[in-house]
Amino acid sequence: MGLLAAATVVLLVCIACLLSFATWRGRSGKGKMPPGPAPLPMLGNVLQVKPKNLAKTLQKLSEEYGPVFTVHMGSDPVVVLHGHDVVKEALIDRADEFAARGHMPIGDRANNGLGIIFSNNEEWLQVRRFALSTLRSFGMGKRTVEERIQEETGYLLEEINKTKGTPFDPTFMLSCAVSNVICSIVFGQRYDYKDKKFLALMNNMNNIFEMINSLWGQVHSMFSKVLDYLPGPHNKIFSEFDALKAFVSEEVKMHQASLNPSSPQDFIDCFLSKMQEEKEHPNSNFHMKNLITTTFDLFTAGTETTSTTIRYGLLLLLKYPKIQEKVQEEIDQVVGRSRRPCVADRTQMPYTDAVVHEIQRFIALIPLSLPHTVTKDTCFREYVIPKGTTIFPVLSSVLHDSKEFPNPNEFNPGHFLNENGTFRKSEFFMPFSAGKRVCPGEGLARMEIFLFMATILQNFTLKPVIDPQELNITPTLSGTGNVPPVYQLCALPR
Ligand code: HEM
Ligand SMILES: *[C@@H]1O[C@H](CO)[C@@H](O)[C@H](O)[C@H]1NC(C)=O
Ligand SMILES: *[C@@H]1O[C@H](CO)[C@@H](O)[C@H](O)[C@H]1NC(C)=O
Repeated sequence: MGLLAAATVVLLVCIACLLSFATWRGRSGKGKMPPGPAPLPMLGNVLQVKPKNLAKTLQKLSEEYGPVFTVHMGSDPVVVLHGHDVVKEALIDRADEFAARGHMPIGDRANNGLGIIFSNNEEWLQVRRFALSTLRSFGMGKRTVEERIQEETGYLLEEINKTKGTPFDPTFMLSCAVSNVICSIVFGQRYDYKDKKFLALMNNMNNIFEMINSLWGQVHSMFSKVLDYLPGPHNKIFSEFDALKAFVSEEVKMHQASLNPSSPQDFIDCFLSKMQEEKEHPNSNFHMKNLITTTFDLFTAGTETTSTTIRYGLLLLLKYPKIQEKVQEEIDQVVGRSRRPCVADRTQMPYTDAVVHEIQRFIALIPLSLPHTVTKDTCFREYVIPKGTTIFPVLSSVLHDSKEFPNPNEFNPGHFLNENGTFRKSEFFMPFSAGKRVCPGEGLARMEIFLFMATILQNFTLKPVIDPQELNITPTLSGTGNVPPVYQLCALPR
């Protein structure tokens, strides 16, 4: 009897696989879904797609199936756009059709359609536009965003100076510095690196990133339909979200009490003024819940990304001391030692600018961007992408395209320099994605990366604790981001 039952199960599984294989063959091809490996029922393409190194498996599949193909993550089909031409065609040439955010289980559950990252339609457009203009404007109190970053670099230098040339891991202090820039913009104040409230906030964000990047987080995003109803470690992340939102909510209350609408000092003030302005509109998108969710988005999208980029950049400069030296020479020529570097210096510093671009290109921090979708059945090349299908625009395939960057897996600032040493712009530089969803923090992030790195190198020479030849610079891909291996360095005052 046991044998019979087992045989029946095996038979049923085989039939299910065959059926799924046959239906998939019928659904893909010209005028239908893009081609791709046949999925298993429920499990999709687990056999072909390794979550540990998604970008690499997708590269392999694109060699077999072309620049537009379908893979199944769990039971859901995902259309993958691979290479500069298709990514540009979708995100830029057909920006409106490809602007919608795809389903992301954790984000959708945390944000409930509010904020910027996980929202869509008019709600998304209005809040995004507001955040962009506020981040850009000089109307946010007396200090510009640039001055806020420069202030923070001073504290970061002090912190580095305290290490007195002994080896240290820069992760924590870089996270503090970058978080503080967002704190300054959003809350109007920075915190001491030892402040208890600030440390709780940092701890909170670290936990969130660790959980998203854990195997559990990965599995959750593939099988959320089932897991959301089960107990397990993936539920803990939502209590971390709540704690972060409670922190923001407390700040908002204090801002409300002291608001002077004629001179908003920070992002929260600006948002509160906008709420005032629109309080007669019954369907306004500017309300308390959206203020909290939007602030939350700025923190989660703007801290780990930028600080990881800087941390990875410093590692690359340890690996290539000649490049570090050339950056320092340029800083000495253009800025000197007596004043802080500023954004206006960047156009005078093509080599440093090229190094910063090459860092972002090389590491391809968010290799698959965030998922997009189409809001109606969409013809793309010879295929039809059904409404609601998740789309991955593979940014790493653009950043590592050998048509544009010879030896794309090599770290070489020459990728962004003309022969005469001037800065060479590239359309393939898309670490922030492109089109209507392009990262609204791009300007801020690029300012931070440039100012933090230039100021550190103006004041310190960075040395590895082991032979540069032995330094590992291969990313540990974890979840959605490429993270550098853990390392230590020594900062010697110049
Ligand atoms: C090196 C640093 C950063 C990188 C590499 C980066 C990259 C990205 C990427 C690839 C996306 C997805 C775009 C898409 O959907 O196609 C994104 C979205 C976003 N980023 Fe950034 N980002 C960085 C820093 C920041 C900062 C500093 C902020 C905050 C001010 C920020 C706020 C956002 C927001 C709010 C979104 C969602 C945009 C939307 O859905 O409309 N990012 N970012
Ligand atoms: C580091 O500290 C020393 C003395 O403690 C001081 O003279 C120097 O200016 C500091 N350097 C920076 C970059 O803060
Ligand atoms: C340097 O070369 C680029 C392209 O090769 C050219 O566009 C630019 O005008 C040149 N600049 C100078 C100062 O010669």
